[in-house]
Amino acid sequence: SIFKIAIDGPAASGKSTTSRYVAHRLGFMHIDSGAMYRAITLKALRQNIKFESHNGISHIINLAHNSSIQFATTKPIGSSGGDNAPQTMVYLDDEDVSADIRTMDVTRNVSFVAAIPEIRKVMLAKQRGYANSTNIDGVVMDGRDIGTVVLPDAQLKIFLTANANVRAMRRYEQLKLKDKKVVFEEILRDLEKRDKADLERKVSPLRKAIDAVVLDTTTLTLNEIVGKIIEMTNK
Ligand code: C5P
Repeated sequence: SIFKIAIDGPAASGKSTTSRYVAHRLGFMHIDSGAMYRAITLKALRQNIKFESHNGISHIINLAHNSSIQFATTKPIGSSGGDNAPQTMVYLDDEDVSADIRTMDVTRNVSFVAAIPEIRKVMLAKQRGYANSTNIDGVVMDGRDIGTVVLPDAQLKIFLTANANVRAMRRYEQLKLKDKKVVFEEILRDLEKRDKADLERKVSPLRKAIDAVVLDTTTLTLNEIVGKIIEMTNK
C-alpha cells in the first residue's frame, strides 16, 4: 500500500521545505497543499475577482472546480545526487506558477480563499486523489489539516512548530534575497494574522492530530528535522 506521511503546522514552520527533502530522500511524491490554495488565489487575483462579495465567492468556487493543479518534483542535477536542493514545481492549468504563488498579494489573500468550505471540499478530493495514485510508493503531504482531515489514515503524522519570531525571521531572510525592501515587522504581522485566521476558521482549522508527533524546529536545523522524520518512518 501507499505509505503516507502528513506534515502539519503554522505558516513558515518549515513544512514545505522539510516535506520536500523527506519526499526526496524516500523517493516519495511531495504534495504542498498550501500551494493548491495559493494557486486558486492567484487565479482569482488575475481575474480581478471581488473577494468578499457573494458573486466573488461563487466565482472562486467555480474556478476551483475548473482548475487543474499538478505537482512535479525535480530530480537533483548530476547523477550522484550532490547538494542540489530538490524542488517541487506547481502547475496551474499546465502553467508553471511555482514562483507566482509566493507573492505578498497571494499570501495576504489565501487564508480567505482557504476558509471557503466548498473550496476545501474540492481541494480535499484532489488531495486524496494524489495520495491514492497507484503509481507511487509513498506521499508526503504538508498543510494545516492533513493529519486531521485529509489523510487521517497516514502512517506517520508530524506537527511542526516554531516560535513566531523565528518563523518570521526565516521568511524575512527568504524574501530579502529577492526584494531588498521587505520589512521584518510587516512579515511578522502578516504571519500572526494568517496563524489567527488558520486557527479560528470554522472548517478544518489548523490542529495537531492526536496521534501526531510534535517537532519544535526553533533550535533544529533542516537536516536534523529531516533526519528525525526519516528515522520515524523506519525506511
Ligand atoms: O502552507 P502555506 O503557508 O503556503 O499555505 C497557505 C495558506 O493556505 C495557509 O495560510 C492556509 O490558509 C491555507 N491552507 C489551508 N489548509 C492546508 C494548507 C494551507 O487552509 N492544508
